[in-house]
Amino acid sequence: MPSMDAGAASGWIKRHAGLVPPGGPVLDLAAGRGRHTQLMRDLGHTVTAVDRDIAQLGTLLCDEGVEAMEADLEDGSPWPLGERQFAGVIVANYLWRPCLGAIVGAVAAGGVLIYETFGAGNEAFGRPRNPDFLLRPGELLTHCQGRLDVVAYECGITDGPAVVQRLCAVRNN
Ligand SMILES: C[S@@+](CC[C@H](N)C(=O)[O-])C[C@H]1O[C@@H](n2cnc3c(N)ncnc32)[C@H](O)[C@@H]1O
Repeated sequence: MPSMDAGAASGWIKRHAGLVPPGGPVLDLAAGRGRHTQLMRDLGHTVTAVDRDIAQLGTLLCDEGVEAMEADLEDGSPWPLGERQFAGVIVANYLWRPCLGAIVGAVAAGGVLIYETFGAGNEAFGRPRNPDFLLRPGELLTHCQGRLDVVAYECGITDGPAVVQRLCAVRNN
């Protein structure tokens, strides 16, 4: 059953979603209302949607192709997904720096990481302003180095206006 209020998917995530191997499982981290969970379900993927408040997923909670996992990613608990890996890992509008290594590690061989969130400089335009929630210049690229191959990257000021970093990277090994 589709979620009626998940919101429009990010153009960046939509643009690269087709690179996720067909039928492979997807992780939507800090899924919120599930706009990307819905996008990937519509493309035929099963989705593990992680958030500290899974009630936001609404009707997606009734979708048997959605595994909703309630977890606080910032409370010092172990990474909630253990060694699990996914054909697609999607993170949008969320950053908790200590998780970046685990996020990259959650991409299976042949899989894809699609990430989009605010970057340093955004504090001039609005929230988030806390540097803990803003990517440093090139930070996503650094995390991928030697682990994932970057196929697309953008960093700059959007119409918002906002400073946003966007990355799509694949694990070829
Ligand atoms: C700005 S929303 C982005 C939601 C979604 N990714 C999207 O782009 O539509 C940030 C999400 O991060 C979740 N979140 C914030 N802190 C969290 C934490 N400590 N652990 C897990 N999820 C958290 C919030 O509940 C919220 O759903």
